[in-house]
Formats: sequence, structure tokens, C-alpha cells
Amino acid sequence: MCGIVGYIGKQQAYPILIKGLQRLEYRGYDSAGIALINNDKLNVYKAKGKVAELIQFAEQKDIQGTIGIAHTRWATHGEPNQVNAHPHYSQSEELAIIHNGIIENYAVLKEGLKEQGYTFSSETDTEVLIQLIEYVKKTNKVDLSTAVQLALNQVVGAYAIAVIEKSEPDVIVAARKGSPLVVGIGEDEYFLASDATPIIEFTDKVVYIGEEEIVTLRRGMEIKIVTISNIEKTPEINKLEMTLSQLEKGGYPHFMIKEIFEQPKTLSDSMRGRVNVEENNITLSGFIDNKEKFLNAKRIIITACGTSWHAGLIGKYAIEEFARIPVEVEYSSEFRYRKPVIHKDDIVIPISQSGETADTLAAVELAKSQGAFIFGICNVVGASIPRNTDSGCYTHAGPEIGVASTKAFTAQVTVLTMLALIIGKEKGTLSEEQYLKITHQLGLIPEKINHILKQNDSIAQFAKTFTYAQNFIYLGRGYNFPVALEGALKLKEISYIHAEGYPAAEMKHGPIALITQEMPVVVIAPNVGMYEKVVSNIQEIKARKGKIISIVTEGDIVVANLSDYSISIPETEECLVPLLAAIPLQLMAYHIAVVKGCDVDQPRNLAKSVTVE
Ligand code: AGP
Ligand code: GLU
Repeated sequence: MCGIVGYIGKQQAYPILIKGLQRLEYRGYDSAGIALINNDKLNVYKAKGKVAELIQFAEQKDIQGTIGIAHTRWATHGEPNQVNAHPHYSQSEELAIIHNGIIENYAVLKEGLKEQGYTFSSETDTEVLIQLIEYVKKTNKVDLSTAVQLALNQVVGAYAIAVIEKSEPDVIVAARKGSPLVVGIGEDEYFLASDATPIIEFTDKVVYIGEEEIVTLRRGMEIKIVTISNIEKTPEINKLEMTLSQLEKGGYPHFMIKEIFEQPKTLSDSMRGRVNVEENNITLSGFIDNKEKFLNAKRIIITACGTSWHAGLIGKYAIEEFARIPVEVEYSSEFRYRKPVIHKDDIVIPISQSGETADTLAAVELAKSQGAFIFGICNVVGASIPRNTDSGCYTHAGPEIGVASTKAFTAQVTVLTMLALIIGKEKGTLSEEQYLKITHQLGLIPEKINHILKQNDSIAQFAKTFTYAQNFIYLGRGYNFPVALEGALKLKEISYIHAEGYPAAEMKHGPIALITQEMPVVVIAPNVGMYEKVVSNIQEIKARKGKIISIVTEGDIVVANLSDYSISIPETEECLVPLLAAIPLQLMAYHIAVVKGCDVDQPRNLAKSVTVE
């Protein structure tokens, strides 16, 4: 997980690196550290905790230097303390490294290095790598980039690294395999980071470093890329589309609430140029380019993790209903290891906000190696997953910074719904009338979300009453079962209250034993689909004195009267209810977490992109 930043140029590196770390803090916040070269000295400063702790610690030191690297950590090897924080020195303290990823064969490498007299001060896998680079460099008498290259040939695992050397104050060497790395090209200066957010205010020219590539950034010289097997590559310069204001809180107390409130806009952005509201028509270029594949697909496999997996489940309901293609929804971490049966005429759809999730990326590789057609649904433009797919569709929700996913989820559901509708229409499995009706309703969703957001204050009020709870149950049926899972995940992640989502009818097969008058049960009960059955499920909970919080269709008094608290959402088509029902659940989780004093944007133990498996 971890975020890495680097700078070499004419400006002071420290403020650029610190700001960069703050932007990347969503990737991990166990510790932070920085290394700068100044006056023939290689200074490393690091602190346990967030970037704010590092600032306090470093500002009393020599923080001069126009070359530096910095890191914010999500620990994989060794507890989150100051010693294990990055950057790590090599034995001679001539070199320093930052690393995002895992060196899987670190134990074997460490033993070998110990035999050569190397000692280790941290428990990390990363320190082993910098010692190896130093060892290779000294024994082969080569320069830094060659040493990195030779060392990486011995490494098994995933990495984005950056290395600097005391006696080479004009060079940063960086490399990647499995973890993201992007270089920003300014005038006589280079930036380096895990994603483009630390770079955006300095330049819009970036080079995405490819798998197993090593990049050498030399002051005043052109960027040089070679692969670890020594093939030279020409850097491909891309233009960034992101804007700075998208990365700021814009007056909101947290990114999460800002992102919840952005959803009317992000969903419009997701549909822009795709849903024609006048004609009620959908155009998806990824579909048009691969129409025959979709029309002939015998099966679709969706692979994703966490919230994206929940979106995938909603996609399954929609694709099966409208396009009549069987859909399997897989956890990427299981799929990649369990020898799945993949056919050449399968379509595999990875879904990922970040586009960097290690398990989903590995699932893509696996499906590709078996000849399946890969259609990615991603939010971050240019990330590893979209770069590894055959085709796809961006969700266009804009940068999502809050660790708990909100706007990316609704954008994923929107894209999947558009896809289901368009395949259904083209295949003839969805009537023209239904297609027009649902497409029309889809176009109205952003405005309906605006309407739901007006209930924010009252949701904040009632949320206060539930902060006592140790457990929550979320129930939904049909399209709203995955919404129940997602609602429960939101609450768990940010408020640390244990919560479980179930299909409402599963209650009586076990979970109902948990119902007492203490237990809040959130029921998604819109007036569509299996409404009557959900009402019966609510009665069963009521009979056992559970506290009911319901999501109902505007005007419904039956469920509202049975509930301790109810939130209404506007009427819509059944398949579109998740886009509305998700909103109050996001708001409720947010307000409960705020009242509990939790760190909403950076919940404990979590990180935004899980780039390690
Ligand atoms: C969402 O709130 C989570 N923090 C997490 O489950 C996330 O959805 C998951 O890690 C997948 O990430 P991705 O969409 O970037 O692949
Ligand atoms: N393995 C390294 C550590 O634990 C980097 C962790 C990461 O990138 O997630 O420090």
C-alpha cells in the first residue's frame, strides 16, 4: 500500500515532498519519512504516525536539498514504528530507499546478506532490498541504476521503489513491478509518485512507468527507461486531465462527505456523452467497439474486491435480468488462486476504483493468459488495470480521496447498469419500451440524489442515537441485497461498529438469533420488487423488539409506521434503487463515525489502494 514521492530539480524538495505525502496519505498512514541530499549529506527523517508527526519532527532539522524521496507507510512487514518507517538506509548509509510493495523472497536474500556481513536494524522486507542493491553495487562496481537493475533480477515480489545515493546528488533511480509509479516532467525538474496527485500542481506532463521498468531521473538530462532485462524503452508522455480543486475539501470537513455530496455531479459525469436524455439512448464506446463479443458471450465473470465487488453484484442482477447472460461475481483474491475455469468466449470484467488493487490486477493477468476478453471498469485514468485490459469504460467519478468508497461505488453501478441496458437492447432480450423507460429514469437519478441529500441534517440527528450500538444488521432483497452489504461495510470501516449485511429472507436461517431491543436493523424496503416480502421480514424483527431503520419510497407509510426511524427516497425503477438507497446509508455511516470521533477519511488499519495481496 504505501505512497511514494520523489523530487529532483531546482526547487527545495522538502515542501513538495511533504505536500505530496499529504496527498498520498490515503494510501497508508502508519508512519512517514523523508530523505534529502544536501552538502554531501544524505539525511533521513522519519516518524511513527501521520505526515503531521513527520513535519513536527523534521522541521527542526536540516531539511534543505533539491533532491529527495519520501514515503507514507501501510505496514506489511514489521510493526508500524519509527525504525520500520521508510526511507531505509543501506549499511554504509550511502544509499536510501522508499518502497511500496512486498519483497516475497526477502528472508532468503536476508540470510545471504547476513553471511556477507550485513546487519539489519528494521524488520522490513524493504531494508533487505536496499542492502542487496548496495551489495550488488559494491561487488560489481557499477553505477546506481545498474545496481538496481541487477538487484531486482534477484527479487520476487511487488515494488515501486525510489533510491538515492549520497555521492550522486543529481540522480534518482526508480522502478516498478506490480505497484504504481508515475513520473511528472517539469522544466528542468522531475517528480515521482505513486499517483499523479502530488504532481498535478507542477506539471500536467506525466509518464506512467510500466511493469518491470527502471527509470533514471538525472538533473538536467532526459528521462531514461530500461527494463529489468535491459531493454531500452522510449518514455511515452501523457497529459493529465485532473484538476487541483478536485483534490481539495472545498469547504467540507471531510473528503468523505464532500464525495457523498458530489454524487449528483459524478453520476452526471459518468453518464455524460453516454446517456442521451432527449432520446433516452445509451452509447458506450467500449461496447460498440466490441459489440459482437458482448452479443455472443456465453458468460461474464466480474472480479473485484470490497465495495467494487458489491457494485459487481448489482451488475450481475442487471446483466442477468436485461441481457440474459449468466454472470459470476468473484472476489479477486479467491479467483486468482483457485484455478477457475475460464473460456475464450468469456468476458471478464474487473471493477476497481483505484485500478491498482493487486488481487484484481492478478485476476486480470490470469484471465488474459487463458484467452478471455477483458473489459475493465475503473475510476483512475491510466492506472494499471485499465492499462492491462482489452477495452473498458471509465467511471469518471473524479479522484476519490476518502478511504471509504462512496461516489466511486455509485459510478460503478451506473456504468454496469448502462452496460446491462445496452447489451439487453442490442440482443433483443430487453424490450424497446423497457429500455427507453429505464434509460429515462437513469437520467433522472442525479436530481433524485440531490433531493435525498437534503435529508442530511435529519440523518445526522438520528445517527446520534445509534452510536451506543456494538452491532448493526443490514437487510435488503434483490438489487438491494448488495446495497445492504455495502451499507454494512461503510459502517464497519469508518465507525468501527460491527455490521453485517444479509439478504432479508436469510434472517430466519440464523441471524435472527441476534435480535434484541439493542440491535439496530437497517432495512432497505422500497416499494418495488419484493416489497411485501420485505414488510414480512420487518414484522419478524419487530416481533423480537429489534430497532428498525428503514429506507422507504416517498409516501410509504406502512413501513415507515413499523420503523423507529425511516428515510425516504424518490420512486424509481427497481434496478436503479441501489443508486438512491446507497446515499442515506453512506450519510448514516458518516455521521455515526463523526459523532464517535473517528478518523473518517483515514480509518484505522485501512488504506485506499490495496496494492499488496
Ligand atoms: C471501500 O470502502 C474500501 N475501502 C475497499 O473495500 C475497496 O473498495 C477495495 O479495496 C477495492 O478497491 P478498488 O476499487 O480500488 O479496487
Ligand atoms: N513492505 C513494506 C513495508 O512493510 C512496504 C509496504 C507496502 O507498500 O504496503 O514497509
